[in-house]
Amino acid sequence: MFLRNAWYVAGWSSEIGDDLHPVTVLGEAICLFRAENGDYIGLEDACPHRKLPLTKGRRKGDTVECGYHGLTFDCAGQCVWAPGGGRIPSSAKVRAYPCHEKYGLVWIWMGNPALADPADIFEIENYDNPGWGINRGAAMALDCNYLLMCDNLLDPSHVAWVHEGSFGQSATRDTPLRVTKTDDGVIVHRWMMDVEPAPFYKKVIGFEGNCDRKQHYEVRYPGHAIIRAIFTPAGTGGEDGPLHEDTFIMDSFNFMTPVSESETRYYWFQLRNIRPDDEDLSKLMSEDVRKAFEEDRAVLSEVQKGMSSKTSPHIDLPIDAGPLRFRRQLQAMINEEAQVDAQMAD
Ligand SMILES: [Fe+2]
Repeated sequence: MFLRNAWYVAGWSSEIGDDLHPVTVLGEAICLFRAENGDYIGLEDACPHRKLPLTKGRRKGDTVECGYHGLTFDCAGQCVWAPGGGRIPSSAKVRAYPCHEKYGLVWIWMGNPALADPADIFEIENYDNPGWGINRGAAMALDCNYLLMCDNLLDPSHVAWVHEGSFGQSATRDTPLRVTKTDDGVIVHRWMMDVEPAPFYKKVIGFEGNCDRKQHYEVRYPGHAIIRAIFTPAGTGGEDGPLHEDTFIMDSFNFMTPVSESETRYYWFQLRNIRPDDEDLSKLMSEDVRKAFEEDRAVLSEVQKGMSSKTSPHIDLPIDAGPLRFRRQLQAMINEEAQVDAQMAD
């Protein structure tokens, strides 16, 4: 079960143009393309006649023609032409999904179209800030349920073992975590004071010596994360500490799109508050982050297998408080949605 009344990332806008682009979101096959006015269109990827995917057909202006018998659909999913002459059956239509482009990503609304409001798309505070640099990477296919990745992104501890050579350091093993429930998700965070910077950050921060480090791990419903890393010269950090002019901040954005119960498309990019136009730095960050995310991918695909074929119970630890809270609340939202749908169907 997934939360349906929510925006999910369907793809990078740079990948979706004139061609019919197949994607699967929440188990539903969707045909994406860009209309002549620049809008992104998402249609159910199945002709209602014999269910040939529309992506196997042709784009004709702002319509899509089925490759089997030529039934033609407009951007609202309505059939505007059918073979054989006569009236077009009223049931000749495909579902149209609201789409919206933001942050170079195409977002798709999987629930009731009347509730789709682009203002509800995840807010990114420094996206257009010229003082901040950005690095992006290609989406990754994860062989696991999206909630395992949400768990991972509410779990600052795993870096000590999974990312030993990049994000991890000894303080990440056992410094206590704080869990906060927000209106739209969960935050797990901690400060580690007067520690050596972890290997990846040592390469990019602009100061020498020890640092105070903050790990802010936040996931919002249904599966969108901001991981904020703060590195500031030792003695200048802490909950209310004024930040130093050399403070390095990296915001890592992570968007999980469920493909099925056991597959996830993972979209990510990072914003940083230093050297915004330094292409070499962007490249280095993309490559290093990707390597680290590959480490997550390898672990999570094995966790997926382990959890789905377990022959003894698994256990939870105090470090799981954040992920468990997130899962509980999301499940309550999914249940509530299903209840409303059932009432409307009565
Ligand atoms: Fe990780």
